[in-house]
Amino acid sequence: MKPLLISLLRQLSDGRFHSGEDLARQFGVSRATVWQSLSEAATLGLQVFRVRGRGYRLDYPLDLLDGWTISEALGDCSPFRVEVLDSVESTNSLLLERARQSEVHGVCVAAELQTRGRGRQGRVWHSGIAGGLTFSVAWQFKSGVTALSGLSLAAGLAVARACEALGVVGVKLKWPNDVIHNGRKLAGILIEVQGEMLGPSSAAIGIGLNYRLAPQVLAEIDQAVVDFAAIADPLPSRNKMLAELLRALGNVLTEFEAGGFAPLVADWEARHAHQMKQVQLLLPDRSVIRGVAQGVGADGSLKILTAGGGMQFNVGEVSLRGT
Ligand code: BTN
Repeated sequence: MKPLLISLLRQLSDGRFHSGEDLARQFGVSRATVWQSLSEAATLGLQVFRVRGRGYRLDYPLDLLDGWTISEALGDCSPFRVEVLDSVESTNSLLLERARQSEVHGVCVAAELQTRGRGRQGRVWHSGIAGGLTFSVAWQFKSGVTALSGLSLAAGLAVARACEALGVVGVKLKWPNDVIHNGRKLAGILIEVQGEMLGPSSAAIGIGLNYRLAPQVLAEIDQAVVDFAAIADPLPSRNKMLAELLRALGNVLTEFEAGGFAPLVADWEARHAHQMKQVQLLLPDRSVIRGVAQGVGADGSLKILTAGGGMQFNVGEVSLRGT
């Protein structure tokens, strides 16, 4: 995203009219440049109205992030240092790149726009600009990479707890780490780990939560999704919500560091969308396992009781049996 466009959008974020002339003067460009720049907003899923004699306005106010407000809401004891970027390819990719060069433990990078947001299994993560909360946290562990197998489930639990703390009921977890509401995806998690088998290791914990998705962004998503605006009343600001997500994530990371995923299993299963339900698990070799989802192991694996007995899985896509 060009710097001028985000500067203009910051001005228009109040949802009121701003004259082209004022905007042009403020940023030292021509009115034609303002018009040209704002016409690119449509490609980000934003609608900018232009009314003769009044100027430009967004179809709804844009709730932009502010690093200082988030840090203040988190308080001094927070383990996170929050950075807000206007636009980045992917917050996970950025943190992985930075980790190769310097110490990043506790750094949280949030972006208003990801131009190449990445989901699990090579999928694309779409949010548009300010339509979601897209952020990554870098965390170092004394343990090795094998001990991090339940980390993505722990992060999903943190998201669910944060949503509940903000007053939303009915948030569930779909193994391994989708956060859903009434069967629709609310948030997803992408964890990328590096390090030694016996430690130390580090993780980029990437979280994408649908906050208020523009219709144009919704049209790009090929699965059933829900955004927070549809299920939260009142809808907290994005700053408040990010602070709550980080608070919950910080607590979960503390618990995880002390005892791995084991102490979190019961809390995870209490929110498991498929607990004790008939499911099918599609494995990467396209074979299908059928049985009853019994919960999760301390390593984050999914336990299924099949006709042949109990089995545990570390990969696969779960769906309700027969649906
Ligand atoms: C999924 O497929 O469910 C995981 C989605 C993870 C998306 C988040 S958004 C912030 C971080 N940066 C990325 O590129 N991906 C993750």
